[in-house]
Amino acid sequence: MVFVLCDKNTARYCYPVIKSKLPIHERIIISAGEKNKSLQSAGFIWNQLTERGTGKDSLLINLGGGMVTDTGGFAASVYKRGIDVVNIPTTLLAQCDAAIGGKTALDFKNIKNIIGSFHFPVAVLIEPAFLKTLDKRTLLSGFAEMIKTAIIADKKLFRKLSNTEIIPQQLQPLVSRAVRIKQNILKQDPFDLKTRQALNFGHTAGHAFESLMATRKDYLLHGEAIALGMVAESFIALNKSLITVKELNQITDLISHHFELPHIAEADFDKLFSLMKQDKKNRKQEIRMALPEGIGKVKINTKVQPDIIYSAFQYCNFALHS
Ligand code: GLY
Repeated sequence: MVFVLCDKNTARYCYPVIKSKLPIHERIIISAGEKNKSLQSAGFIWNQLTERGTGKDSLLINLGGGMVTDTGGFAASVYKRGIDVVNIPTTLLAQCDAAIGGKTALDFKNIKNIIGSFHFPVAVLIEPAFLKTLDKRTLLSGFAEMIKTAIIADKKLFRKLSNTEIIPQQLQPLVSRAVRIKQNILKQDPFDLKTRQALNFGHTAGHAFESLMATRKDYLLHGEAIALGMVAESFIALNKSLITVKELNQITDLISHHFELPHIAEADFDKLFSLMKQDKKNRKQEIRMALPEGIGKVKINTKVQPDIIYSAFQYCNFALHS
C-alpha cells in the first residue's frame, strides 16, 4: 500500500499539482504548524496505518515541509520497525535541509527534536514549482538554512547569498548547491557521530529560541530561530578567535538585512540557557557547539562556557536592536 502524508496546507496547495503523477495511494492529513510535530500526530498516523491493515512492504510519501517530513519519517521509522519513506519537500527549508539525510524528529515537552530516529528516505524528489506556493516569511526561513550551509562550507555561496533576492526564481538554482554540500557532509558521517554536527551551526542557541517562543504570539519559524542562533553563535566564534570582527559583521549584516528578529528579554536568559543544556551535541553536561572558522569552514564539538553564552544574548540585542 502507498500512503501520502500531507498537512492541511500541502493537501490544498501542493497535492493537486502532483496527484496525477503519484502511484495509487490513500491520503493521511495532519494539522499544519510546528506544534503538530508531536506524539499525537504520530499516533494519528499509526492509527490510520493500523486501521487499514498496512503491511511492512508499504510506502509512506511525505508531502510537505520539515514538520511533515520529520513527523512522517519518525512514524514510519517505528511502524512495524520501519516502512519505506519517500520525501517530497515543499518548502525551501525542507528542500535544502530537513528532508535530506534521514533525521526524523518530534518535539516533546516543548523541547525541539528531542524524540527521533535515523530513517533514510529511499528517495527525495524536489519539485521547484512548490517554491511559488510559499510566502516571503516561509521562503526566508529556508534562506536561513542556506546561509548556514554557506557559512560552514562555501564562502563563494555566502557572497552569492549576499546578493540574492528572496524570490523563487533566484533561490531555486541555489537549492541543488545546498543539497550537494549537505550530501558531501552526510557521506562522511550519516549518523551524526562527528562531522555531521557541522550542520548544527546556529542550532544550539536557535533551538532554544524556537522552543522558548513556541507558545508565544510572536513565535519564530525554524529558520528565523536559526538566524538568531547564528548571530549568537558567531559572536561566540569571535570570542574563541575562530572568526574576525569583519566576518562577524558580515554574518550579522546579512541576517539583519533580511530578518526582523526579536529582542531577547533578560528575564528569559536563564530559561534559554537551560534549554541549551538539552542539546544533543552536549557531552558531560557541557555545552558543545559547531562554530564557524572563518566563513566557509566549521569547528565542531567546541566547548562553550555559560558566561560567553549570556554575552552572546546581549550581543544579539545590541547588534540587532540598537
Ligand atoms: N539539519 C541538520 C542535519 O541534518 O544534520
